[in-house]
Amino acid sequence: MILHRPISRRHVLRTGAAFTALSALSPARMAMADPTGDPFVLRAASGQAALRPLPYGPTNVWSYSGSVPGPEIRVRQGDRIRVLAQNGLDEGTTIHWHGIRTPNSMDGVPFLTQDPIPVAGEFLYEFDALDAGTFWYHPHQRSSEQVGRGLYGPLIVEEADPIRVDRDLTWMLDDWRMTRAGQLSDDFGNRHDAMHGGRIGNSVTINGEIPERISVQSGERIRLRLINAANARIFGLDFGDFEPVVVALDGQPVTPHAPDGGVVVIGPAMRVDLVIDMTGKPGEAVTVTDVFYEGLEYRLVDLVYGPDRLRDSVPDWSMDLPPNPLAEPDMASAARHQIVFNGGMMGQMMMGSGMGSMMDQMREGNMWFINGEAATGHMMDPLLVLPQGTSHVFEMDNRTAWHHPIHFHGHSFRVIARNGQPTRYREWQDTVLMAPEERVEIAFAADNPGDWMFHCHILEHQAAGMMGVIRVEPGTTKT
Ligand code: C2O
Ligand code: CU
Repeated sequence: MILHRPISRRHVLRTGAAFTALSALSPARMAMADPTGDPFVLRAASGQAALRPLPYGPTNVWSYSGSVPGPEIRVRQGDRIRVLAQNGLDEGTTIHWHGIRTPNSMDGVPFLTQDPIPVAGEFLYEFDALDAGTFWYHPHQRSSEQVGRGLYGPLIVEEADPIRVDRDLTWMLDDWRMTRAGQLSDDFGNRHDAMHGGRIGNSVTINGEIPERISVQSGERIRLRLINAANARIFGLDFGDFEPVVVALDGQPVTPHAPDGGVVVIGPAMRVDLVIDMTGKPGEAVTVTDVFYEGLEYRLVDLVYGPDRLRDSVPDWSMDLPPNPLAEPDMASAARHQIVFNGGMMGQMMMGSGMGSMMDQMREGNMWFINGEAATGHMMDPLLVLPQGTSHVFEMDNRTAWHHPIHFHGHSFRVIARNGQPTRYREWQDTVLMAPEERVEIAFAADNPGDWMFHCHILEHQAAGMMGVIRVEPGTTKT
């Protein structure tokens, strides 16, 4: 097994034939409907994790409650989530509930929505699960290193009336930069990663393990919840002979459809819910390949059919998830805003006005800009102030040579156009992947008051300036 080289087909983390116990991601189902009960505790601390299979030893990580990923929090839509975050790290931290529409004070952004939780301190997060879907949690303080060392976990909000499947699986994908000795390379926040595609690793895990084979049953229908917890790696999963159907993006239902070109693309922080029918025969195997980076394709995992057959034909059960209670943007009255992203290597950062200012900011170590400004340190005047109850379109223009997964806190938005072409499904997302030079339009109703982060979720880009704040000014909500 070679862990120190970039992943390629030949250098793929191949080991013995043991099945990894991937379904063993045990949900910590919380009895949280009772608001007087004890909160669920997530303790951030350093520890160890068996990322590599035996006989390799464990890797030093930072984790929640001793496991990577942290415990799966699973609740019902409408439940109240109460989590006591305890800080056992040697530095301040917070927890952000990615994609969840919380009140601003529960959003977990240090210096913006709360003070960092100090060393040995704790903080009670408490909010309602308004939307059903696949979400996740992670720190928002020095995220590049804190998330990169293993602090993250899944948060699943079940529909009151879920679609019928035989198994509901979560795959939390991550990508680690490991040394030859199997420890995490500690070059977090280096300038090269920041100027390029971020901290790309050399070892990919599913639910904290380098996977080998996962067993499936002929005829079964699986709902597979993919969560990309990597700092920077974009996945493009090719499921071989399977025909996965996308049923939700970033937790929000979407018209069930086959992924473009058969490849499920999932940028950092994004989620995709798939329904997959296991149409092969007992004894067969299907390889799942990550084909996103050309020339660096690798085998992610094999799905291997067990000896039994669950059923002979594909079930005709509905794949339509019930919609979540999101505020629909009013397109007739929506205000339009131009948001231009610049920076990085080989970008057009030298072009256009404002170049002098960006050059000055680069001397201070910033490399990425939103409308000519790199955000630094302890925040930031808002990029935009939007009255609560109004609708908005962001015309986002990626004038860089890099992909950027752009995330907006506290709201989901519809992706309405790409390069001037209307999107087919007007999909709701909270993180939208912009290709190099791509223009993407999103629309949303500003209905959640507070100061909300708007940033690239390649965590090294965020740290090097690619973030800002959008203020939703409280007021009377339009009815
Ligand atoms: Cu997943 Cu601003 O975060
Ligand atoms: Cu970016």
